[in-house]
Amino acid sequence: MLLTERYDQGAGKWTMALDRLGFPAAYRNLFAELDLNIRNKDICDVGTGCGDFVAALTQIGDPPNSLTLVDPSHKMLAQATNRLQFACRNLHSNARRLESLRGVGEFDIMLGAHVLEHLREPEEGLRKMFRLLRPGGRLVLSVSKPHVCQWFIWLKWRHRWFSYQQITELLNWAGFTAISASDFPCGVPARCSRAYVAARPLNS
Ligand SMILES: C[S@@+](CC[C@H](N)C(=O)[O-])C[C@H]1O[C@@H](n2cnc3c(N)ncnc32)[C@H](O)[C@@H]1O
Repeated sequence: MLLTERYDQGAGKWTMALDRLGFPAAYRNLFAELDLNIRNKDICDVGTGCGDFVAALTQIGDPPNSLTLVDPSHKMLAQATNRLQFACRNLHSNARRLESLRGVGEFDIMLGAHVLEHLREPEEGLRKMFRLLRPGGRLVLSVSKPHVCQWFIWLKWRHRWFSYQQITELLNWAGFTAISASDFPCGVPARCSRAYVAARPLNS
Protein backbone atom coordinates (compact mmCIF):
# COMPACT_ATOMS: atom_id res chain seq x y z
CA MET A 1 0.00 0.00 0.00
CA LEU A 2 1.29 3.47 -0.84
CA LEU A 3 2.06 5.90 1.99
CA THR A 4 -0.74 8.25 0.93
CA GLU A 5 -3.22 5.37 0.98
CA ARG A 6 -2.06 4.49 4.50
CA TYR A 7 -2.64 8.07 5.62
CA ASP A 8 -6.03 8.13 3.88
CA GLN A 9 -6.90 5.02 5.80
CA GLY A 10 -5.73 6.47 9.14
CA ALA A 11 -7.31 9.92 8.72
CA GLY A 12 -10.48 9.22 10.71
CA LYS A 13 -8.58 8.33 13.87
CA TRP A 14 -5.46 10.49 13.46
CA THR A 15 -6.34 13.41 15.72
CA MET A 16 -7.62 11.14 18.48
CA ALA A 17 -4.40 9.10 18.36
CA LEU A 18 -2.24 12.24 18.43
CA ASP A 19 -4.23 13.53 21.36
CA ARG A 20 -3.64 10.33 23.29
CA LEU A 21 0.10 10.65 22.68
CA GLY A 22 0.15 14.28 23.82
CA PHE A 23 1.15 15.94 20.54
CA PRO A 24 -1.51 18.68 20.32
CA ALA A 25 -0.64 19.81 23.87
CA ALA A 26 3.07 19.73 23.02
CA TYR A 27 2.44 21.78 19.86
CA ARG A 28 0.41 24.35 21.83
CA ASN A 29 3.18 24.58 24.41
CA LEU A 30 5.76 25.13 21.66
CA PHE A 31 3.81 27.94 19.99
CA ALA A 32 3.04 29.59 23.33
CA GLU A 33 6.78 29.71 24.01
CA LEU A 34 7.69 30.90 20.51
CA ASP A 35 5.13 33.71 20.69
CA LEU A 36 5.16 34.22 16.90
CA ASN A 37 3.26 37.18 15.54
CA ILE A 38 0.80 35.68 13.05
CA ARG A 39 -1.56 38.62 12.66
CA ASN A 40 -2.18 39.22 8.94
CA LYS A 41 0.57 36.77 8.04
CA ASP A 42 0.48 34.20 5.25
CA ILE A 43 1.06 30.75 6.71
CA CYS A 44 1.65 27.41 5.00
CA ASP A 45 1.57 24.04 6.77
CA VAL A 46 3.26 21.31 4.73
CA GLY A 47 2.27 17.72 5.46
CA THR A 48 -0.56 19.21 7.46
CA GLY A 49 -2.23 15.85 8.10
CA CYS A 50 -5.39 16.65 10.07
CA GLY A 51 -4.07 20.16 10.77
CA ASP A 52 -2.96 19.62 14.37
CA PHE A 53 0.26 21.65 14.12
CA VAL A 54 -1.25 24.72 12.48
CA ALA A 55 -4.37 24.47 14.68
CA ALA A 56 -2.12 24.77 17.74
CA LEU A 57 -0.58 27.93 16.25
CA THR A 58 -3.89 29.57 15.34
CA GLN A 59 -5.39 28.77 18.76
CA ILE A 60 -2.89 30.99 20.55
CA GLY A 61 -2.53 33.87 18.07
CA ASP A 62 -4.48 36.56 16.21
CA PRO A 63 -6.07 35.59 12.89
CA PRO A 64 -3.57 35.22 10.05
CA ASN A 65 -4.22 36.66 6.59
CA SER A 66 -4.17 33.27 4.92
CA LEU A 67 -3.66 29.62 5.72
CA THR A 68 -2.46 27.16 3.09
CA LEU A 69 -2.67 23.48 3.94
CA VAL A 70 -0.60 21.07 1.85
CA ASP A 71 -0.91 17.29 1.98
CA PRO A 72 -1.14 14.56 -0.69
CA SER A 73 -3.60 12.56 1.41
CA HIS A 74 -7.05 13.81 0.42
CA LYS A 75 -8.64 12.37 3.53
CA MET A 76 -6.14 13.90 5.97
CA LEU A 77 -6.44 17.22 4.13
CA ALA A 78 -10.26 17.09 4.27
CA GLN A 79 -10.11 16.71 8.06
CA ALA A 80 -7.68 19.63 8.34
CA THR A 81 -9.78 21.84 6.05
CA ASN A 82 -12.92 21.07 7.98
CA ARG A 83 -11.47 21.87 11.40
CA LEU A 84 -9.67 25.04 10.27
CA GLN A 85 -12.53 26.53 8.25
CA PHE A 86 -13.24 29.16 10.91
CA ALA A 87 -9.61 29.87 11.81
CA CYS A 88 -9.01 32.08 8.79
CA ARG A 89 -11.08 33.60 5.99
CA ASN A 90 -8.51 32.75 3.32
CA LEU A 91 -8.10 29.02 3.70
CA HIS A 92 -6.49 27.14 0.82
CA SER A 93 -6.21 23.37 0.61
CA ASN A 94 -3.63 21.92 -1.71
CA ALA A 95 -3.67 18.13 -2.21
CA ARG A 96 -0.08 17.94 -3.40
CA ARG A 97 3.38 16.95 -2.34
CA LEU A 98 5.83 19.57 -1.16
CA GLU A 99 8.12 18.56 -4.03
CA SER A 100 5.57 19.73 -6.61
CA LEU A 101 5.02 23.23 -5.18
CA ARG A 102 6.42 25.91 -7.47
CA GLY A 103 5.89 29.22 -5.62
CA VAL A 104 8.57 31.67 -4.53
CA GLY A 105 8.35 34.07 -1.58
CA GLU A 106 4.67 33.43 -0.89
CA PHE A 107 4.61 32.90 2.88
CA ASP A 108 5.71 34.58 6.11
CA ILE A 109 5.63 31.35 8.11
CA MET A 110 6.17 27.78 6.94
CA LEU A 111 5.27 24.87 9.23
CA GLY A 112 6.20 21.22 8.85
CA ALA A 113 5.48 18.66 11.56
CA HIS A 114 6.78 15.17 10.94
CA VAL A 115 6.88 15.52 7.19
CA LEU A 116 10.65 15.65 6.51
CA GLU A 117 10.64 12.05 7.70
CA HIS A 118 8.73 11.04 4.55
CA LEU A 119 10.71 12.96 1.94
CA ARG A 120 13.07 11.07 -0.34
CA GLU A 121 15.34 14.14 -0.40
CA PRO A 122 14.80 16.08 2.85
CA GLU A 123 17.49 18.62 1.91
CA GLU A 124 15.56 19.51 -1.28
CA GLY A 125 12.36 19.70 0.78
CA LEU A 126 13.97 22.25 3.10
CA ARG A 127 15.33 24.17 0.14
CA LYS A 128 11.81 24.30 -1.29
CA MET A 129 10.44 25.59 2.03
CA PHE A 130 13.20 28.21 2.03
CA ARG A 131 12.12 29.41 -1.43
CA LEU A 132 8.45 29.45 -0.51
CA LEU A 133 9.23 31.76 2.42
CA ARG A 134 9.59 35.51 2.01
CA PRO A 135 12.95 36.94 3.10
CA GLY A 136 12.72 37.34 6.89
CA GLY A 137 10.14 34.53 7.07
CA ARG A 138 10.25 31.81 9.73
CA LEU A 139 10.20 28.04 9.50
CA VAL A 140 8.92 25.88 12.38
CA LEU A 141 9.48 22.13 12.27
CA SER A 142 8.77 19.19 14.51
CA VAL A 143 11.00 16.27 13.56
CA SER A 144 11.38 12.69 14.79
CA LYS A 145 14.61 12.18 16.71
CA PRO A 146 16.57 9.01 17.50
CA HIS A 147 14.81 6.85 20.09
CA VAL A 148 14.14 3.14 20.33
CA CYS A 149 10.38 3.80 19.83
CA GLN A 150 11.08 4.93 16.26
CA TRP A 151 11.53 1.31 15.21
CA PHE A 152 7.98 0.46 16.33
CA ILE A 153 6.60 3.50 14.51
CA TRP A 154 8.70 2.59 11.46
CA LEU A 155 6.98 -0.79 11.18
CA LYS A 156 3.80 1.04 10.22
CA TRP A 157 4.96 4.30 8.63
CA ARG A 158 8.42 3.55 7.16
CA HIS A 159 9.55 7.02 8.23
CA ARG A 160 13.03 8.34 9.03
CA TRP A 161 14.41 10.21 12.01
CA PHE A 162 17.13 12.78 12.37
CA SER A 163 19.64 13.86 15.00
CA TYR A 164 20.03 17.50 16.05
CA GLN A 165 23.24 17.66 14.06
CA GLN A 166 21.65 16.29 10.88
CA ILE A 167 18.79 18.79 10.97
CA THR A 168 21.01 21.79 11.70
CA GLU A 169 23.31 20.77 8.85
CA LEU A 170 20.37 20.35 6.47
CA LEU A 171 18.91 23.72 7.51
CA ASN A 172 22.27 25.43 7.02
CA TRP A 173 22.66 23.78 3.63
CA ALA A 174 19.22 25.01 2.59
CA GLY A 175 20.21 28.59 3.47
CA PHE A 176 18.43 29.06 6.80
CA THR A 177 19.94 31.08 9.64
CA ALA A 178 19.01 31.82 13.29
CA ILE A 179 18.48 28.11 13.84
CA SER A 180 17.32 27.02 17.28
CA ALA A 181 16.01 23.76 18.67
CA SER A 182 13.84 22.95 21.63
CA ASP A 183 12.72 19.76 23.31
CA PHE A 184 9.09 19.12 24.13
CA PRO A 185 8.53 19.10 27.89
CA CYS A 186 7.07 15.64 28.54
CA GLY A 187 5.58 12.37 27.31
CA VAL A 188 5.94 10.81 23.87
CA PRO A 189 6.74 14.12 22.10
CA ALA A 190 9.66 14.66 24.52
CA ARG A 191 11.04 11.21 23.78
CA CYS A 192 10.44 11.04 20.04
CA SER A 193 10.45 14.56 18.57
CA ARG A 194 12.30 17.85 18.63
CA ALA A 195 11.18 21.28 17.43
CA TYR A 196 13.31 23.59 15.28
CA VAL A 197 12.89 27.22 14.32
CA ALA A 198 14.88 28.89 11.56
CA ALA A 199 14.71 32.02 9.42
CA ARG A 200 15.19 32.91 5.79
CA PRO A 201 17.65 35.84 5.95
CA LEU A 202 16.31 39.24 4.93
CA ASN A 203 18.95 39.68 2.26
CA SER A 204 18.45 36.31 0.59
C1 LIG B 1 3.27 12.04 10.35
S1 LIG B 1 2.00 12.87 9.45
C2 LIG B 1 2.06 14.46 10.25
C3 LIG B 1 0.76 15.22 10.15
C4 LIG B 1 0.72 16.53 10.93
N1 LIG B 1 1.72 17.47 10.49
C5 LIG B 1 0.85 16.26 12.40
O1 LIG B 1 1.81 16.70 13.04
O2 LIG B 1 -0.06 15.60 12.94
C6 LIG B 1 2.81 13.17 7.90
C7 LIG B 1 1.91 13.85 6.86
O3 LIG B 1 2.76 14.24 5.77
C8 LIG B 1 2.11 13.94 4.56
N2 LIG B 1 3.13 13.78 3.52
C9 LIG B 1 3.84 12.67 3.22
N3 LIG B 1 4.68 12.93 2.20
C10 LIG B 1 4.50 14.23 1.87
C11 LIG B 1 5.09 15.08 0.88
N4 LIG B 1 6.01 14.62 0.05
N5 LIG B 1 4.68 16.37 0.82
C12 LIG B 1 3.73 16.83 1.67
N6 LIG B 1 3.14 16.07 2.62
C13 LIG B 1 3.52 14.78 2.71
C14 LIG B 1 1.30 12.70 4.85
O4 LIG B 1 0.23 12.51 3.94
C15 LIG B 1 0.85 12.93 6.28
O5 LIG B 1 -0.41 13.57 6.35
